[in-house]
Amino acid sequence: MSKLALFGGKKIRRKPFVSRAIVGKEESKRVNSVLKSGILSGFIAKSGDGFLGGKEVREFESLVGGYFGTEHVISVNSATAGLHVALGACGIGPGDEVIVTPYTMSASATAIIMQNAIPVFADISENTFCIDPGSIEQCITARTKAIIVVHLFGHPAEMNRIKALARKYKLKIIEDCAQAPGAVYKKQLVGTLGDIGIFSLNQHKTVTSGEGGFAITRNARLALGMRLIRNHGEVIAGNIRLKDISNIVGYNYRMTELEAAVSIGQFRRLDFLNAHRINLARYLTEKLSKFEGLTLPAEESGTKHVYFVYPIRIKESEARIPRDVFVKALNAEGIPCAAGYVRPIYLEPLYQKKIAYGRKGCPFTCGFYKGNAVYSKGICPVAEKMHRKELVIIPVCRYPETPRDMDDVVKAFQKIFNNRDKLRKFQ
Ligand SMILES: Cc1ncc(COP(=O)(O)O)c(C=O)c1O
Repeated sequence: MSKLALFGGKKIRRKPFVSRAIVGKEESKRVNSVLKSGILSGFIAKSGDGFLGGKEVREFESLVGGYFGTEHVISVNSATAGLHVALGACGIGPGDEVIVTPYTMSASATAIIMQNAIPVFADISENTFCIDPGSIEQCITARTKAIIVVHLFGHPAEMNRIKALARKYKLKIIEDCAQAPGAVYKKQLVGTLGDIGIFSLNQHKTVTSGEGGFAITRNARLALGMRLIRNHGEVIAGNIRLKDISNIVGYNYRMTELEAAVSIGQFRRLDFLNAHRINLARYLTEKLSKFEGLTLPAEESGTKHVYFVYPIRIKESEARIPRDVFVKALNAEGIPCAAGYVRPIYLEPLYQKKIAYGRKGCPFTCGFYKGNAVYSKGICPVAEKMHRKELVIIPVCRYPETPRDMDDVVKAFQKIFNNRDKLRKFQ
């Protein structure tokens, strides 16, 4: 039996897995031509042509609109900015509550606080790690105005049940699709199922311009609101005689021509990159299914999972290896992986101490807020269990890796399972 790398044995894999962006000829050509033109941003904060940005920005928005079949695309400089403009355009403000999952990148919830509103955390489903509609319903109060649905790790959330709740309680739905561009729920691309869909183009995403993002919507009023908040809208509102100026407090969330030029080339490869991820993930699922105590990623019926990462659950009692020891052993064999994802967001000091703006507890203690959001340990037991005990994330199912690279993952699993007895003594 070969000795585990954790105990000084030879690693299964020496070659690092690729974790950088794959940049093609189109991106280089476009970036060079933008540089030559000397117009690195086409935005101006006043009414007129420049209000909507430059040539590359518009071409990118039109490409994205064609892909999703949505009339309105609002490029921004991050998904965080996208979530912020979306909440503003939906009319979210002081005193309002917005329901969100705690098992997501922090910005999905922080954007709510950026509007002086209150995040209320609903638990997640064990199968998909996305927000659980049953838990959402328990969180709804007279103050609830919206739900932020995150399609986590590339798997769509249960949108039919969430849409039914939104209809029943008159709530807006903002889909956070940062990790799921191209994922499908019941024949519809995620991002087109709610009121607004938000996407990220940061370095770690399937298609990237380093930093960047965009919002999509079919609703012209929401689109106008987002465009105004993106680009200093308070100086435009008067010129266009906007009737409702609430939340038209503008930021600079504008995308540069360079980012848009990169995003165009990147976005054209989205379907190819997703297909590659899906093939590698399914290959892994087939090979890993022989190991006991593992729950491999679900692909719920009627969904297309785009595998931003490959998430598995390990049941210590059946696999007979503690999750954290398993992760250490896998890392030592040269397979990148993580124990859990993020700490459930409400456990961070911002929520535990209820300190955001200033030292007096705003927006949690704001006079307009009549509720009492609870952030104590235990409010989302499934998210806590996944994080503390069961979830393992493997981020290697991506281009240009091949099934041969996945074989190294399988070999490392086999080696660790063969050495379980030795590992049990290791903590
Ligand atoms: C689910 C989710 N939402 C929002 C964001 C924020 O994206 P950005 O870095 O583009 O602001 C991320 C980024 O990792 C994310 O994964």
